[in-house]
Amino acid sequence: MALRKLVAGNWKMNGDRAALAELDAIAAAAVDHGGVDVAVCPPFTLIAPAADRAPGLPIGAQDCHQNAKGAHTGCISAAMLKEAGARLTIVGHSERRADQHETDAEVRAKAEAAIGAGLTAIVCVGETEAQRDAGQALAIVEGQLDGSVPPAGTGDTLVIAYEPVWAIGTGRTPSVADVAEMHAAIRAKLAALLGEEGAKVRILYGGSVKPDNAVELLGVADVDGALVGGASLTAAQFVPIIAAAASLG
Ligand code: 13P
Repeated sequence: MALRKLVAGNWKMNGDRAALAELDAIAAAAVDHGGVDVAVCPPFTLIAPAADRAPGLPIGAQDCHQNAKGAHTGCISAAMLKEAGARLTIVGHSERRADQHETDAEVRAKAEAAIGAGLTAIVCVGETEAQRDAGQALAIVEGQLDGSVPPAGTGDTLVIAYEPVWAIGTGRTPSVADVAEMHAAIRAKLAALLGEEGAKVRILYGGSVKPDNAVELLGVADVDGALVGGASLTAAQFVPIIAAAASLG
């Protein structure tokens, strides 16, 4: 089943109010290419102004806390993000799994909190280079899915992003065959975890997606979109990736 593609930008800890001007052309491209979904996840401080500036463009966060409120200094709840104008949030990005030591169980709790607050959760998984070299890539990702996919996730509320850690920000990407193998394995795991709903959950590829490799990567079976880091920071780079997704239907 071909799912509607989603091209989501993850600005990470980049961007300021001036950078929101990029959203004008990105929002226009989203309208031009109505056959694909587009979203941008800026830093927390830019969510509300981004949502104000581009009301038609889904704006997301890059993390949320698993609790609704309380004594968690420096953290933000899913309901707070929703009130600020977010419609989705990334959870379990490999940079947070590494830097903040987030576990699969925490990532699942964050995803459940996001969905409970009415946000779509993009749950990230992916192996390190050492794990791939050791032949463990599939087992690592399947284990992450076992631990971090919320059982109540649906095609509307849950997205998976496969982001091999060694491909993030490096300009290196897996072969088409390796992407196909991994996405097929993720699809099978989603079916095992979520039943029929698992066929409706989009699986994004992320890691050095650029305008010149987008068609190749987005054309792989079971690649239902892209999670884009560096190339999402400017419309000049991001819009051609949106167009590539649209060209594939
Ligand atoms: P890059 O596209 O910069 O490699 O980042 C990918 C990523 O981590 C998106 O979440």
